[in-house]
Amino acid sequence: MELTCRYHDIVFSFALAFLLAWRCEAQFSMDSTISSRQLDSLLQEYAYGAFLQLHPRTGTPYDGDVPTNLTGVKVAALRLRCGSLRKRGVPSYKEFDIPTGVIIRPYVKRLAFVYQNLGNWSSYYYPLAGYTHLAPVLGLLAYNASNFSASNLPELDVTASSSPIWINFRNVRPAPSGFTAKCVRFDLNGSLEFTNITSSNRCSTFHHGHFAIVVNSTMIPAPSGEKHKSNLWKIIVSVVGGIVGLFLLSLLMVWLISYRRKKKLTKMQKREHMGVVLKMEQVGNARLPVAPMTRTQPVIENDFVP
Ligand SMILES: *[C@@H]1O[C@H](CO)[C@@H](O)[C@H](O)[C@H]1NC(C)=O
Ligand SMILES: *[C@@H]1O[C@H](CO)[C@@H](O)[C@H](O)[C@H]1NC(C)=O
Ligand SMILES: *[C@@H]1O[C@H](CO)[C@@H](O)[C@H](O)[C@H]1NC(C)=O
Ligand SMILES: *[C@@H]1O[C@H](CO)[C@@H](O)[C@H](O)[C@H]1NC(C)=O
Ligand SMILES: *[C@@H]1O[C@H](CO)[C@@H](O)[C@H](O)[C@H]1NC(C)=O
Ligand SMILES: *[C@@H]1O[C@H](CO)[C@@H](O)[C@H](O)[C@H]1NC(C)=O
Ligand SMILES: *[C@@H]1O[C@H](CO)[C@@H](O)[C@H](O)[C@H]1NC(C)=O
Repeated sequence: MELTCRYHDIVFSFALAFLLAWRCEAQFSMDSTISSRQLDSLLQEYAYGAFLQLHPRTGTPYDGDVPTNLTGVKVAALRLRCGSLRKRGVPSYKEFDIPTGVIIRPYVKRLAFVYQNLGNWSSYYYPLAGYTHLAPVLGLLAYNASNFSASNLPELDVTASSSPIWINFRNVRPAPSGFTAKCVRFDLNGSLEFTNITSSNRCSTFHHGHFAIVVNSTMIPAPSGEKHKSNLWKIIVSVVGGIVGLFLLSLLMVWLISYRRKKKLTKMQKREHMGVVLKMEQVGNARLPVAPMTRTQPVIENDFVP
């Protein structure tokens, strides 16, 4: 009997802990979604954080730190005088080649180019129905750089006036045979701009925004993007979790019922020892003590008479 109690406690604790953990996980995945525009705002702050820790030099890129909930994302910031940007450009800022003649509006004395590499979060924040990403999404956005601790800064408008800004993507996965990869620019207002790719990994643009190399995924058997995969994974975990949870609960019920039954039986057997003679009879699958006097004869209900 004691053993049964302990088992019952263990099973109950397991079931409770499991259901709690399951709920918490569901809660967490609901709270962790922010929009790509909110992400831009956060990444601007994280990138500017690199300026606060050092004595930043104009024209030198600094890498920023991101919190652990964005592991896989890279940010950097580069501070420039507007006049110098227009005259000299920036020949190589990470994957970006910024030419001469770039105009920033509205006018600021100093600007910062915030660089983003969304890594494995690319298709999470920039999903594109019908397409698969072949390289991480890269962002190039300009902000007023007069105040390093400023947050929620509006983006400055960037326009290349003579030649385009080039983006040299690294580690581009090859497109499946018969398919042509395309460059896509995600404008801040949500609109898309597709352009042709140059020499397998280069895209050009005359504006700021987020850039990616994508391919039509209609003929690709794998589900498009990590977002769908991770959603599928979540569904599988939830379903399996639910089944295990139900199993543990039903186990608990079975233990509870058998525990009650045994307790009742012991009570009756005790009474037997105290003098009340109870006859043991076969009832269904169990041998149960029955009272000596049967008031009503058992009648089978719904008896089928041919
Ligand atoms: C990451 O955590 C920080 C707090 O540490 C929070 O402000 C931010 O919104 C979180 N980012 C995402 C993408 O959930
Ligand atoms: C990206 O990878 C990191 C670990 O490298 C992981 O913590 C994070 O959850 C991944 N992001 C997505 C959207 O899968
Ligand atoms: C992808 O290609 C298929 C077949 O060529 C076409 O029907 C479909 O519209 C394309 N999808 C997109 C998003 O361009
Ligand atoms: C840039 O920031 C400085 C300091 O915060 C401010 O004085 C200036 O007006 C800002 N410029 C623009 C165009 O917002
Ligand atoms: C810079 O921004 C911070 C945070 O918004 C603010 O407290 C501070 O007064 C600003 N400094 C200047 C010089 O504008
Ligand atoms: C977004 O802005 C671009 C100009 O940068 C404009 O051509 C386009 O129509 C805008 N799209 C939407 C949906 O507002
Ligand atoms: C893009 O490529 C397609 C076919 O590869 C071609 O027909 C089209 O003219 C190209 N567009 C530009 C702007 O070069």
